[in-house]
Amino acid sequence: MNNFLNKKILLIICGGISAYKSLELIRSLKKKGAQIKTILTKSAKQFVTPLSVSSLSQEKVYDDLFSLENETEMDHISLSRWSDIIIVAPATANTIAKISSGSSDDLASTVILASNKHIFLVPAMNVRMWEHPSTKENLVKLKNYGFSFIGPEIGDMACGEFGEGKMSEPKIIEEKIEIYFKNLSKNKKYKALVTAGPTHEYIDPVRFISNKSSGKQGYALAKSLSKKGFETTLISGPTSLKVEKDINLIKVETAEEMFRATQNSLPVDVAIFSAAVGDYKAKEISKEKIKKEDKINLVLEKNVDILNYISNHNSLRPKLVIGFAAETNNLENYSNKKLNEKNCDWIIANDVSNKKIGFDSDFNEISIFYKNSKKEKISYKSKSDISDEVVEKIINHLN
Ligand code: CTP
Repeated sequence: MNNFLNKKILLIICGGISAYKSLELIRSLKKKGAQIKTILTKSAKQFVTPLSVSSLSQEKVYDDLFSLENETEMDHISLSRWSDIIIVAPATANTIAKISSGSSDDLASTVILASNKHIFLVPAMNVRMWEHPSTKENLVKLKNYGFSFIGPEIGDMACGEFGEGKMSEPKIIEEKIEIYFKNLSKNKKYKALVTAGPTHEYIDPVRFISNKSSGKQGYALAKSLSKKGFETTLISGPTSLKVEKDINLIKVETAEEMFRATQNSLPVDVAIFSAAVGDYKAKEISKEKIKKEDKINLVLEKNVDILNYISNHNSLRPKLVIGFAAETNNLENYSNKKLNEKNCDWIIANDVSNKKIGFDSDFNEISIFYKNSKKEKISYKSKSDISDEVVEKIINHLN
């Protein structure tokens, strides 16, 4: 498995003779599929040129905190936000001292001070600078702040001396970073989003169009996901159901609010759309209560289809998109139609004409329709047991 694929690495190059090694590091990480943005300090430019760095990284080089053009395009906060990790290589004695004192007088130190990302320092300096008590003190401080160090190594130095202070070779840096990414993916917490319940589509300040959905199946799914360690967001239309405290509950009323909340909760690894979203809303909501007449004309227009929008989105689409189909007849045909038309990975279908299951019941019986035309049935059981089974299938799929 390639642990570098699409990883975003911000490389800060400081002024030291070993800066040339960072060029090799960029070349090698790029080859493995990482995206690299670089910051050059003023003195780094004495050792490597912005042109060679940008040619290798195939990205523009950032080098001046006060460059208006760079700040509007990608400011110091965005640079940190963009990155998965930050590597400072070579990290000179001066940079280490600046970081440990919280100084921020150039782009490199400002980004580091403003960042909440994991930062690797790859020191390179003369042996006596490395052994100086003030450098040692700075190291202790930075380790306590959570910075990681790679090297330095013992060996011959560019200054003609021998000792500890040599910058680690790019291959070693790469190995250490790879271990970090590997551990990260092992401990990764999956994120899940569930929509549930009905929506209220207002026609005037006191009346709305809604449906019979109780939200029970969606709430049970959110509970099962959270129990299995998913970081779970539940976007719920109006219901009277209670929710576990580990679940991030977002209460909404209308389809439009549900749509906005869903967009704001992405990205996630799996999204389950169990809400019975009102397909239509009033074209115009009367500001005043509508008075009794013999006849009124209600003009409705289509609501945005949340599931359809998200599952067809280029960048926001979760790895696994699951839709629901509540049908009274032709369950298989209609479910497969929804699966294809809405570009879902799975459709969970239930027969709402059966009084024992569906809507307000605590029990359900579902069929799961998959993209590869396979289907599976989970027979009559509590909504909570059904949810546990569905979540097992989700975990198998994600792994
Ligand atoms: N859905 C959605 N946003 C909408 C409408 C539906 O996200 N505006 C989702 C539901 O949460 C569910 C699936 O789409 O996962 C249901 O599809 P839908 O076509 O709405 O089903 P029905 O309304 O039952 O369609 P029809 O009335 O045509 O059977």
